[in-house]
Amino acid sequence: MGDVDVAETDIAGLPAYPFIGPDDNPFVPVTGADLERLERPVGKVKLPFGGWAWLVTRHEDVRQLLRHPGFSSDQYKPGFPVLNPIPPKQDDASGLFIFMDGEAHSRFRKMLTAEFMIKNIRRIEPLIEETVVEALDRMEKLGAPADLMAEFALPVPSMTICHLLGVPYADHDFFQDHSRVIMDRKSGPAEVEAALGALAGLLGDLVEAKRENPGEDLLSRLTLERVDTGELRKDELVSLAMLLLVAGHETTANMIGLSALVLLQHPEHLEALREDPSLAPGMVEELLRYLTVVRTGLPRLAMEDAEIGGQRIRAGEGVVAMLAMSNRDQSVFSDPDLFDPQRREAHRHMAFGFGLHQCIGQPLARAELRVALVELARRFPELRSELSLADVPQRPMAVTFGVAELPVTW
Ligand code: HEM
Repeated sequence: MGDVDVAETDIAGLPAYPFIGPDDNPFVPVTGADLERLERPVGKVKLPFGGWAWLVTRHEDVRQLLRHPGFSSDQYKPGFPVLNPIPPKQDDASGLFIFMDGEAHSRFRKMLTAEFMIKNIRRIEPLIEETVVEALDRMEKLGAPADLMAEFALPVPSMTICHLLGVPYADHDFFQDHSRVIMDRKSGPAEVEAALGALAGLLGDLVEAKRENPGEDLLSRLTLERVDTGELRKDELVSLAMLLLVAGHETTANMIGLSALVLLQHPEHLEALREDPSLAPGMVEELLRYLTVVRTGLPRLAMEDAEIGGQRIRAGEGVVAMLAMSNRDQSVFSDPDLFDPQRREAHRHMAFGFGLHQCIGQPLARAELRVALVELARRFPELRSELSLADVPQRPMAVTFGVAELPVTW
């Protein structure tokens, strides 16, 4: 069994995961001397909070792992390969379906599938455009130099998801601050717990308000159609909404910030986008692949014996699907370290994961990225950064990687 194997493994001698240093180039997703010691294609790594796991790096093997029903996403199961500080299990965290398996997971996912379908996202595209234009107007008015993260990349996804859910914009700073704490690997469990509690409190009050006074938003619909019919408990809806706020915010914000940084390094692509906005969808796919913001990868726990990439994985062992490495797998992406907006195979990336838990918000994220980049290129043809790439402050310890600040002029 797994236990015997864990005891036998010389954990201290394993390559240490994650392979990310604080001063690294944001376009080189995995680095470090230990990376060279990793056994390929599936090798054991020492985890940051104790124990070890199998690291799966090849594109095909990551696909096989993420669609395999024998692997759990439940981070509270004993032996789960913990990559980030996690708060004690909350009684009322019952709608965080990203951490659930089987029927329990699909029950929640099914309630949201239609909401996030491309045709429904298309309906809110004018709103995304409005949000993007307003943020850029404000940035222009403030004058150069401006911090593109604070003025643009962070507010756009936050305002969009708040609008979709029906969270008043007045509460938006509150959400942004707390979700940053939740997503920061440096936050201690108590801090994360406090942030989760604060968000839950506000959302609970909102659900009550929607019941009295429903609007055209997702929280109102779920309150009337699911909670009031007895299909969904209020605490489940609150934690479901929390998941959407947090999962949809930091990821997209960091993608917008890092994408802008890539385009500042490659002004010819910014120029091409301005001249031909129809290039945007292909460019966005390549940015998603190249940047893979969920750089820590996706942890899973084997619930049964399985074979992944020719390696036998035993029940009770932890596994990490290394999205950033599979998105640079040269058997799928030729010259994988090159940023190539014309790349034909870019859409095969797994920046949104794959299989059972594949990102439900991807049509929304794609629309936000597309609109944000096209509008940025159009409005600021002279956009540039005074900082060299090495001097742009990073957020190396966050779950989703990104830049802390991006000072720009135009
Ligand atoms: C560029 C932006 C985004 C990236 C890179 C991203 C990435 C991911 C990844 C890798 C997963 C898989 C997690 C796993 O398998 O354990 C995931 C799941 C998820 N994402 Fe996203 N995401 C983004 C934007 C969004 C947005 C805008 C929303 C919603 C508003 C969202 C909501 C979710 C939810 C609810 C899940 C859980 C799905 C499930 O467990 O079935 N994401 N995302």
